[in-house]
Amino acid sequence: MAIAKEAWVSMLAVAVVTGVALWFINAAVQWWRLRQALNQCAGAKIHPIFGTMLEHRGGGAGTLAYGKRYSAIDPLKPLRFCIGPFINFIALRTPSDIKQVVTMDAPKSPFIFKLMAPWLGPSSILIADGPIWRYMRTLLDPAFHRTLLTDYVTVMGQSSQPLIDKFEKIATTTPDEAVDVMQHYALYTFDTLCRCAFNYETNCQTNDDNKFCTAVTENSEVIIARAMNPLLASDVIFALTPTGRRFRKTINYIHTVAQSIIDQRRENLKGMTIDDIAQHKRPSGRALFDFLDICLLSRDKDGNPAMTDDEIRDQCHTFLFAGHDTTTAALSFVTHCLAKYPEHQEKVRAHVHHCLCVCWKPRGCIMSRIFSSCPLHGFLHPFAALQRYHTHTHTHTHTHSLSLSLSLSLSLSLSLTCTHAQPHTHALTHNSPRRRRARVDQYSFMPFSVGNRNCIGYNFALNEVRTAMCQLLRRFKFVDIGHEPILQNKLVLKSANGVKVKIQKLDN
Ligand code: HEM
Repeated sequence: MAIAKEAWVSMLAVAVVTGVALWFINAAVQWWRLRQALNQCAGAKIHPIFGTMLEHRGGGAGTLAYGKRYSAIDPLKPLRFCIGPFINFIALRTPSDIKQVVTMDAPKSPFIFKLMAPWLGPSSILIADGPIWRYMRTLLDPAFHRTLLTDYVTVMGQSSQPLIDKFEKIATTTPDEAVDVMQHYALYTFDTLCRCAFNYETNCQTNDDNKFCTAVTENSEVIIARAMNPLLASDVIFALTPTGRRFRKTINYIHTVAQSIIDQRRENLKGMTIDDIAQHKRPSGRALFDFLDICLLSRDKDGNPAMTDDEIRDQCHTFLFAGHDTTTAALSFVTHCLAKYPEHQEKVRAHVHHCLCVCWKPRGCIMSRIFSSCPLHGFLHPFAALQRYHTHTHTHTHTHSLSLSLSLSLSLSLSLTCTHAQPHTHALTHNSPRRRRARVDQYSFMPFSVGNRNCIGYNFALNEVRTAMCQLLRRFKFVDIGHEPILQNKLVLKSANGVKVKIQKLDN
């Protein structure tokens, strides 16, 4: 009996030792193959402890400078980023590589999910995958239906009035002083988003209340800092640091704002159905649905709420982030470009005036007339507002630039800025809009991303940028002061030193 027991014990010991040995061998093989893949990429030499970190220190600005440096040496190869010994990702830069990964429908990176889930929530449409993402996307797509977008344009026009008033004051009192337009645009886009998607009045523009916008910027900074620092990768360690504590506090504030918006609407919709709203029974009489109506009133086939409370919250957090920081960056960089290239500013202004004169329809929405042709899209080319998105691949991939099959579990970052900086994209997007439409490969110019996971707010964002620009260019001119933005990757592309121009009244 004792011998049998001993035999069992030794067999168990052998099995455990073999299991552990196999695990180590597998890990070593994976590590070696990962190294092979990383060695084929462009980028700094990989240090055994620091990886390539020493060359892209300094947060978002460091990663952009690193990208620029190694793009100059080897423009087509993917870029390697090794954050310490264990966190690695590869930034793909050529349209063919990006196409390959996008068409694979690879899931989002678990690392990015881990960093963003405490803020946006696990079912957030931006970071969720698989059936949850598909379900949310199907539910939320109608929030950007053409009919709603036309309605939103009127609201965008209304919320641009406080912005016009501020610029009017600046142009009258201090026309020769540099103005950082980014802060004004941040309030305009937040106000617009709250009015359109949530039908919620913040009055943030009139009160100059930028607490929410600052909280979003701070959180984005922390996420990038965490992604670039292996010491902060552990949730426990991060929570104990002062940054971790501040992050939690800011998240709580953002969540409280979102919750109060949801609660207020829930109260307004008490006892109402989708049909009631369509029959103008809402106290305001408004028959159109917005994003929040869709979240709260959608029902599944059994008549139960289509989203749980947590899911509604997660989508609100996501839209409050993705729906205003991106357009702030876009508006700021469009302004920078227009100031820098006055001849293009004149062309865009002439176009706006032409549309106002030729297409004026007293009862129609004038802005929607201008939109279809206003050539502002191309200005997003040098500055893709959302920096990059990460996907994760386990499947056998053989990208164009990497001769090794990537059958490893690897995070791939689709680097929009680097792709847009490729000389052929540059040449194509600088051609006339018609030639651009005809010839630009969708994988070489994709400020709103491509494939299934493209930006759900694409048309909303373009409308918002165009509305503001049409309103502003009719009244003001942006004058270059020789200011060069110091670009930083803070989830959304930002400028560390603001975006400064002079704002002057147009000479009539
Ligand atoms: C100029 C402004 C904008 C730019 C450049 C932009 C760009 C992008 C990009 C590149 C993605 C893909 C991100 C990824 O896969 O990681 C994305 C996704 C997304 N965007 Fe935008 N965006 C803008 C404005 C907006 C606005 C105004 C909204 C909402 C009102 C919005 C909501 C979203 C959402 C919810 C997603 C996730 C979609 C999904 O995964 O199904 N974005 N955006």
